[in-house]
Amino acid sequence: TSSENGQITAMYQVANELYHHILVNTQIGEQALAYLHQRGLNDDMIAEFQLGYAPPKAVLQAVLKEKNKNLDYQILRKSGLFSVYEDGSLNDRFKDRVMFPIRNATGKIVAFSGRSLANDPNTPKYLNSPETTIFNKRKILFNFDKAKGAIRREKKCLLFEGFMDVLAAYSAGVKNSVASMGTSLTDEQIYLLQQNTKNIDLCYDGDLPGQKATKRALEILTPQNKFNLRVIALPDKMDPDEYLQKYGAEKFRTLINDSHETPLAFYMHFYEQGRNMDNEADQLDYLSDVLAEIAKLNDPLEQNLYLNKLAERLQLDKYYLEEKLKTLRQQYL
Ligand code: CTP
Ligand code: MN
Ligand code: MN
Ligand code: MN
Ligand code: MN
Repeated sequence: TSSENGQITAMYQVANELYHHILVNTQIGEQALAYLHQRGLNDDMIAEFQLGYAPPKAVLQAVLKEKNKNLDYQILRKSGLFSVYEDGSLNDRFKDRVMFPIRNATGKIVAFSGRSLANDPNTPKYLNSPETTIFNKRKILFNFDKAKGAIRREKKCLLFEGFMDVLAAYSAGVKNSVASMGTSLTDEQIYLLQQNTKNIDLCYDGDLPGQKATKRALEILTPQNKFNLRVIALPDKMDPDEYLQKYGAEKFRTLINDSHETPLAFYMHFYEQGRNMDNEADQLDYLSDVLAEIAKLNDPLEQNLYLNKLAERLQLDKYYLEEKLKTLRQQYL
């Protein structure tokens, strides 16, 4: 019910204030605060995004009940803030994690993601809130509430994978960015974007999962014919946050503002991977992959541009590429 949802939303707000307080004002939070500083986030950024720290010991029930004497067990259970044991007892879901509050489009906190401080392969790097009556992960883009105005003003949205990428961009003065929180972009997230801009710059991680996700995003977004899509490719398998830490804000802004490439330019790099471009069998596979992408383009001028590039790349006569393209085109007409 809506009154239950109101109560749960209030609980997230209280939890966030507690986690933030523990991070910035207490000794228990010192290590986590040092971790965030070491990752390049200053106190202004920590305050702006209301980052927090969930301590190793359970703290939440006592604080929530103190704030609201009428909180009943069922609401606590439904909130997603607790793990439920077999005997029905509740324990804080997030322990010893740096807390990123996740807000809905109106800025209300509806979930958390907690990052572990250790690089321990046995525990997930990020632990997210479960789906609740107020949180449907498919419908949320991280930072959309803050970025919406800038997206409209700048007529463009930058799409990242992760929290730290958005925070990195923000600290470098790039405010029109959101994160899909992983590599799978949903229809609901696309709809949010579509209502605010036609221009999307995809800026996923430079590693293979990130590049595959870029390809998948292009495959979903291109046929809709609603977006101008560009790809910002990161060098050396880096992610945007790592790029900022390594090269600084100036170079980061240059990357974001001046290094976007077309989807076809992205595909021309992408399909080279894992191939020996001096080997003729690999060349032919590459050729058919890229030609298939060129065949999907609607604009004959663009097709011509990339046919030229492809002919040049492989030292081939453009005439044969054109012939091949004609047969491929039949499939898309
Ligand atoms: N993610 C998640 N659960 C995981 C791993 C990732 O929900 N176990 C989401 C998070 O939103 C994360 C994003 O996917 O920010 C991108 O994942 P990844 O690139 O692996 O992490 P980073 O954002 O680079 O995290 P960090 O810089 O803190 O290492
Ligand atoms: Mn990644
Ligand atoms: Mn990453
Ligand atoms: Mn990262
Ligand atoms: Mn530009």
